Amino acid sequence: MPYDKDEIRPELQALYDALDPKKLKELDHAIAQWRGQPTALLHVVHAAQEAFTWVPEGAMERIARGLDIPKAEVYGFVTFYDHFYTDGPARHAVRICQSISCYLRGSNDLIAAASKHLGVQPGARTKDERIRFECVSCLGQCDNAPSVSIDDIPQQGLSAAQLTAALDKLK
Ligand code: FES
Repeated sequence: MPYDKDEIRPELQALYDALDPKKLKELDHAIAQWRGQPTALLHVVHAAQEAFTWVPEGAMERIARGLDIPKAEVYGFVTFYDHFYTDGPARHAVRICQSISCYLRGSNDLIAAASKHLGVQPGARTKDERIRFECVSCLGQCDNAPSVSIDDIPQQGLSAAQLTAALDKLK
């Protein structure tokens, strides 16, 4: 792999050192598996997010070198899609489904209420960095539309007032 042969600059090594070696190995495995294939970048970035739960700068650097493409291309790709995160996990994750079943049952009201209450748009963290708020395509709880999950725990049949009360309980 190019990064094995190259002399690693200290700042680059520092980026790699900041990453969990086991997760880095998973990423290297994905890079080796997908190298040279037209859709490699999508799969490898997915693998990075699977491993780290986000796409750290060191992983982007690794992918760029591993696939032999400019880092700017990797960065542009990662930041283009809402699905990929360039910041680490927050203490809490609040997800609201915006797919059609949930939309028809009022998910937009919940999204608006959460957004106003937390002071952020979907896809961002609160100012104090504690809560990541996002809208997703399906939470697999379509029977309970509109679906919400807080820290991966499904919340059933919440009204906007109940949702904001639940958000207030997050420490
Ligand atoms: S459509 Fe909303 S949880 Fe499946």
